[in-house]
Amino acid sequence: EIKGLVFDLDGVITDTAERHYLAWKRIADRLGIAIDREWNERLKGISRTESLELILAEKPDCLLDAEEKEQLLKEKNAHYLELIAEITAADILPGISDLLEEAKSGGYRMAIASASKNAPLILERLGLSTVFDAVVDPETLTYNKPHPEIFERAAQALGLETQACIGFEDSLAGIEGIKRAGMPAVAIGIPVFAEWLPDIEVAATKDLKLEEIVRKVTMKE
Ligand code: BG6
Ligand code: MG
Repeated sequence: EIKGLVFDLDGVITDTAERHYLAWKRIADRLGIAIDREWNERLKGISRTESLELILAEKPDCLLDAEEKEQLLKEKNAHYLELIAEITAADILPGISDLLEEAKSGGYRMAIASASKNAPLILERLGLSTVFDAVVDPETLTYNKPHPEIFERAAQALGLETQACIGFEDSLAGIEGIKRAGMPAVAIGIPVFAEWLPDIEVAATKDLKLEEIVRKVTMKE
């Protein structure tokens, strides 16, 4: 029986995925590294440090020392913070507020499983700080997505088995993590899949129908 819902934040609750992309794009441009939105799919769900490494791997002759990398990470986050400075509840993605409300009144426990260190700040700006029963702190994790740890920890924080939760993600790394945690997965707007397939796919958040999702997932068991 499904009792919990575990949500990624960036690209699921709000459109910060685009802002992460824009912040990285400025860094990449400056380094003479070409990235576009399609290439960016691989950065979704990936930690700040690993994202920089993936970008730098595109230009093997661009050798930076630890200090220079640290500087770029700082700059990326500073620009990202500028881009999210004006976020309000109006930036909650279509359908999400209704879904959260329906889930609350349905008695589902809810958690955020985001790799972002900025997650608490964003939730506050969106006016959603009190909606979730748990927000996993990514600084306390040993492994990043696609490892299942963050989703296991989210279920644990809700006092539930992973099988009793549904995970919502917009990234390939996230879908892999959810499935490896033994959770049913809902993929939102992911163009192509790799090894790990979600249980349910929707094109956009506005297409999420809680009752239908729970019914489909329960039928599969
Ligand atoms: C994830 C995003 O949620 O958080 C990634 O999908 C991002 O794009 C990661 O790199 C880390 O975020 P932050 O805010 O800690 O740099
Ligand atoms: Mg995401």
